[in-house]
Amino acid sequence: MHRGTFITLEGAEGCGKTTQIDLLAGYLRNKNFNVLVTREPGGTRIGDEVRNILLNPELKEMNYRTEVLLYTASRAQLVSEIIAPALEEGKMVLSDRYIDSTFAYQGFGRGLPLSKLIDINRWATQDINPDLTILLYFPTEDGLKRATVKKTDRMEQEDIEFHRRVQDGFLNLAQLYPDRYQVIDAAGSEEEVHKKILKVLEEFLW
Ligand code: TMP
Repeated sequence: MHRGTFITLEGAEGCGKTTQIDLLAGYLRNKNFNVLVTREPGGTRIGDEVRNILLNPELKEMNYRTEVLLYTASRAQLVSEIIAPALEEGKMVLSDRYIDSTFAYQGFGRGLPLSKLIDINRWATQDINPDLTILLYFPTEDGLKRATVKKTDRMEQEDIEFHRRVQDGFLNLAQLYPDRYQVIDAAGSEEEVHKKILKVLEEFLW
């Protein structure tokens, strides 16, 4: 059992996770928490190299199993190099995506068997699971459509159907793991969403 607290932010493309994680980290640091922020894929030297392969729009021939293994490889490195030591030191770790992104994108999006993805990830992460997972969810399709018009990286090039399956997949995961999941409406201003996240966090921490 680790001593720190492990919080992950998840959501479909463009749900505002990155902005929200920065706001949350700022808030927690003000309250004197020892916070470490990280992101996936990437967050380490090796992970950043893997990220470049994963998101390269030219690598269209990537097999789905290869995709799973690369995302999970980046995660294995992140856990062993950064997350596990930080939790051992009692830090509060905030991660922009983690295992649930593989379950949602490769499981629900690509249609790969969830049980296999859970097994591979259990091994790769040394069974380190989040204590709290905050899902930023768009209640309507508008956000999802806006988010998928960029089409700059390999995953963003997938069609709206794929991203709809991912978004629905996250909701399924929230039902599968009710103990650690909190779903937050991602529509609304940055400040409004931030306040909703703080409410969830305060209930979780105190
Ligand atoms: P980002 O846009 O949040 O930086 O994430 C990069 C992309 O990788 C995004 O489209 C989600 C996708 N992804 C997966 O498909 N599986 C995973 O396990 C992770 C961590 C991300």
